Amino acid sequence: MALLKLEDVTVDYGSIHALKKINMEVDGGEIITLIGANGAGKSTTMKTIMGLVPCKSGKIIFDGMDITNWETKKVVQSGIILSPEGRQVFPRYSVKDNLYLGAYLRPKQEISDSLEMVYHLLPKLKERESQMAGSLSGGEQQMLAIGRAMMAKPRMLLLDEPSLGLAPLIINEIFGMIDEIRTLGTTILLVEQNARIALKHSDRAYVLETGTIVLSDKAEDMLQSDEVQKAYFGVL
Ligand SMILES: Nc1ncnc2c1ncn2[C@@H]1O[C@H](COP(=O)(O)OP(=O)(O)OP(=O)(O)O)[C@@H](O)[C@H]1O
Ligand SMILES: [Mg+2]
Repeated sequence: MALLKLEDVTVDYGSIHALKKINMEVDGGEIITLIGANGAGKSTTMKTIMGLVPCKSGKIIFDGMDITNWETKKVVQSGIILSPEGRQVFPRYSVKDNLYLGAYLRPKQEISDSLEMVYHLLPKLKERESQMAGSLSGGEQQMLAIGRAMMAKPRMLLLDEPSLGLAPLIINEIFGMIDEIRTLGTTILLVEQNARIALKHSDRAYVLETGTIVLSDKAEDMLQSDEVQKAYFGVL
């Protein structure tokens, strides 16, 4: 059984049809990428899963529960966390305080274990734990955003454009971390415009075009596909 399933999910912003009956499945332990151009509906998909945007029709099933239009706090408590587009760290808070904020729904006694896990995953954050988040480099802020999400110990992590605006070396580092997070037992749904690297680290992928899934396949097959290459590999 899929861990997360979207069934005919439809989302409108007023007269804009952002998602038109999309269907997706993510199995436990997978890394799945959602690829698409600007405005395709990638972030909307993530926000709808999180209950940040209302789902007009269709269903979102997580671990056998119908979580469609659940309040975001309840979605988080069920085990899904979003690391949002644009990182959105709190610039005037220290690295450590940003991390603590990611654990605000966790029992107090488990927070120090989570912090240790995140510092093990991201040693750079430990070195900078007292530094203001706003003074970190772009790559470090992305790591902090992912670390903050991991503080909640999610069963499923949604990552919206983790590579945006970063240099190739840092992007490789971020994807190395994503692989490691999977080995910790977290299932990952990733949104990327940077199709090539995302596919290299994914099991399967879906291609979204103006609110419709136009293709879904194994990541390695997509990497070989002329159609996908032509449409999406110009980006890197
Ligand atoms: N709050 C909103 N109000 C109205 N329209 C919106 C809103 N958010 C997104 N849209 C529209 O919905 C469509 C999908 O947007 P979305 O942000 O999901 O795209 P995306 O695939 O994440 O794009 P990008 O790669 O630029 O992040 C776009 O046409 C966008 O203009
Ligand atoms: Mg987006």
